[in-house]
Amino acid sequence: MADQTDQPRSGTVAQGNAYSAARAAAAALRPRLAESPRVAIVLGTGLGGLAEDIASARRIAYAEIPGFPQSTVQGHAGQLVLGRFAGVPVAALQGRFHLYEGYTPGQVVLPVRVLGLLGARILIVTNAAGGLRSSFQAGDLMLIRDHIGIPNLAGMNPLVGPNDEQMGTRFPAMTHAYDAQLREHAHVAAGEQRIVLHEGIYVMVSGPTFETPAELRYLRGMGGDAVGMSTVPEVVAAVHMGLRVLAISCITNVALPDAPHAPDEADVVPEPSHAEVIATAQSAGVRLATLIAAILARLARDVA
Ligand code: HPA
Repeated sequence: MADQTDQPRSGTVAQGNAYSAARAAAAALRPRLAESPRVAIVLGTGLGGLAEDIASARRIAYAEIPGFPQSTVQGHAGQLVLGRFAGVPVAALQGRFHLYEGYTPGQVVLPVRVLGLLGARILIVTNAAGGLRSSFQAGDLMLIRDHIGIPNLAGMNPLVGPNDEQMGTRFPAMTHAYDAQLREHAHVAAGEQRIVLHEGIYVMVSGPTFETPAELRYLRGMGGDAVGMSTVPEVVAAVHMGLRVLAISCITNVALPDAPHAPDEADVVPEPSHAEVIATAQSAGVRLATLIAAILARLARDVA
């Protein structure tokens, strides 16, 4: 059921309904839970395979959850998978929503709010992203240390509108959005598993176009290490609710903004495609699942 009244991009009605829609969806799901999820996991484009490793899995199609949008993008299954991963009660979103699909920021963050209301204390977000550093290779993993949310800075922030004080404070700080202790666990877990894990700044653009060579240079110049079309709204909503966040990008293609600026620059910047993004994410997915399992095993004492 789409929340028809949540259509405007701004204004009092839209945001008020975004919070009540989250409460309604959580109330509908609560009786179906065997146990409360402790960790919510958002599976990015091509990264849904991790959900196959969830033990005692129960799958709930988004279509069965009141107010949930529908995934319109190839590479996103559109179901909630509940169960245990590395022994920890988890709820994994196999499929997420993007601004470029036409969803409002409030709709994009609805699933994360629902999982927060159902008891998750930690959010692990994954995504597919373009690498902005020439030292990155397709298939590499990058832990997100901080973000630049271009749509957020331009008014497409999921917290625009009246604030729900029960959900979180009006002006939440984003200084520590990416929890330092969780990042430390991630680096140690990556070392144990011999997985290369970069760390850097994720820049969000709205998409759906991939960037021009000039835009890539601009994003690199502002400090970005990877660029993608998701994640920032979900992280903002999670931090607003007091969740601790860990986010990992799978670098699916490497844009080369450091190439010398030349009239024929378009010839030296490889052209990305959605098919390439999905294929690379799927092949890196096993490594990502191994890494997340190792991180959860380290966290198990804290969250069990
Ligand atoms: N740009 C934006 N989003 C992306 C990219 C990219 O190159 N690759 C995967 N998601």
